[in-house]
Amino acid sequence: MTPKYYLTTPLYYVNSRPHIGHSYTNIAADTLARFKRLELGRENVLFLTGTDEHGQKIDRAAEAAGLPPQEFTDKISQTFRDLWKTLAIDYDDFIRTTEKRHVETVQKVWMRLNEKGQIYKHAYDGFYCVPCETFFTEGLLSDESGKKLCPECKRPVEKMQEDNYFLKISSYQDWLIQSVKNADGKGFVILPETRKNEVLGFLENNKLQDLCISRPKSRLSWGIPSPLSDDHVTYVWFDALINYISACGWGGDGKRFDRWWPADVHIIGKDILRHHAVYWPVILHMLDVKPPRMIFAHGWWVQGGQKMSKSRGNVVDPVEIVKTYGVDPYRYFLLSEAPFGNDGTFSEEALIDRFNTDLANDLGNLLHRTLTMCEKYYSGGIPAGTALGCRNHLREGAEGLVPALAPLMNRLAFSEALDVIWKLVNAANKYIEEQAPWKLSKEGKADELGRVIVSLLEVIRAVAQAVWPFMPATAEAIWTQLGIQESLTKAPFKEGMWGYFEKGGKVAKGAPLFPRIETEKQRH
Ligand code: MSP
Repeated sequence: MTPKYYLTTPLYYVNSRPHIGHSYTNIAADTLARFKRLELGRENVLFLTGTDEHGQKIDRAAEAAGLPPQEFTDKISQTFRDLWKTLAIDYDDFIRTTEKRHVETVQKVWMRLNEKGQIYKHAYDGFYCVPCETFFTEGLLSDESGKKLCPECKRPVEKMQEDNYFLKISSYQDWLIQSVKNADGKGFVILPETRKNEVLGFLENNKLQDLCISRPKSRLSWGIPSPLSDDHVTYVWFDALINYISACGWGGDGKRFDRWWPADVHIIGKDILRHHAVYWPVILHMLDVKPPRMIFAHGWWVQGGQKMSKSRGNVVDPVEIVKTYGVDPYRYFLLSEAPFGNDGTFSEEALIDRFNTDLANDLGNLLHRTLTMCEKYYSGGIPAGTALGCRNHLREGAEGLVPALAPLMNRLAFSEALDVIWKLVNAANKYIEEQAPWKLSKEGKADELGRVIVSLLEVIRAVAQAVWPFMPATAEAIWTQLGIQESLTKAPFKEGMWGYFEKGGKVAKGAPLFPRIETEKQRH
């Protein structure tokens, strides 16, 4: 079978404009998608993102904005696509839950689950958290000074009493525990391990409740109509999760569905782990569909010790940051500053530090110094017939780069992958000091000088390819300055990390990639 990689992000609620937290998931997903495209070829990767447009939260936001919900969601969904363009997020498909292809699939899922006897109608009496779009039974609520609060986000819940449709999730508790444990490989992987333990802990200590999958139209009409009742629409989470299969043809184009499903990874934030690791696999199982291969729950960007979110009013606008520092430094910062499963604290100071150290001093300087020497000693030319004669630790590092990165990328260890790349960058910088090409030139050691310079150029080329998934524009700029004509994404990846300059070439030095940022702090 042709290898393939199918990765997804959550569908973002369109109640407000995107902030750093949203951009984090998509930058990570884009980086992984690009890496997989280098490995497998573009046609074998499917990167899906989109917007989640139904539910009470969106309905209320539209009302507050004085717009009909569809008009409102059209507008905000577009701001997400605009931001993805700004951030160089190159997705293959963008799904909106208000699209026909999705609405039809959700209704088919209703019908299929009903045929299978998995749905029943029941009077519901409980509490609802609108920001989380989730029901909670009284026992689960946190109670602070007599106020009933959502156990997840600690905001007030609303009492609800209504007839609804339910999915028989509770019958699958044991099956689910086995699937999460995944001892036989037939279940799914949850990363990081701590999140898997959290899900297991929840399943082992709580009796699973059936999932309410409808809302009465009398309370909320902004949803996908249930094909079982004229009085109900679909619960927004049930609707939204189905996007992962509606985008790849479930219930319609069987060939396309078999090509892409199961998803290789659902990338999500830790706050929506339960929906993905508990409800979603059971829904799929009821449909006789395999679970996704992996669910990765990343951490949060926090500000003042709290999750960044619109309702807390502590959001940072990615557009502003990118205007000041550029897209690639922003992408680099988010993926290097905190391991992907952990929380991170956003600050411009930390971003500037990384910019000046890793990007300006290490990577930027390596390119600039090397090309300057090329100009000085060879008038910009690259001595042919030299690369394959070089045997040194830089060659080992370059040839070992993809084999070292691949397993890290497969478990979304972005910051570790960057560490591996930066070790090579710094080894190359050190090599310049040790080999002192200026001395070799003075002493007339032409062969040695050629090997040093070509080794550096080969390493920079390898680094450019490895860095492309993280910082595409930077990688392309390095590529151009190295004078390489062929497209970076078409160049051989794994096996082609050394020997490119055997045929010689001519560099095209440009302006420094990352001019240092001088701050007040550094001036004093
Ligand atoms: N619509 C649901 C997801 C449905 S998926 C079938 C949703 N949307 S959301 O817009 O509220 O959040 C989308 C993603 O953004 C989540 O993975 C969430 O964790 C992430 N982030 C939102 N704020 C965040 C931070 N402050 N930091 C990091 N990511 C966070 O949930």
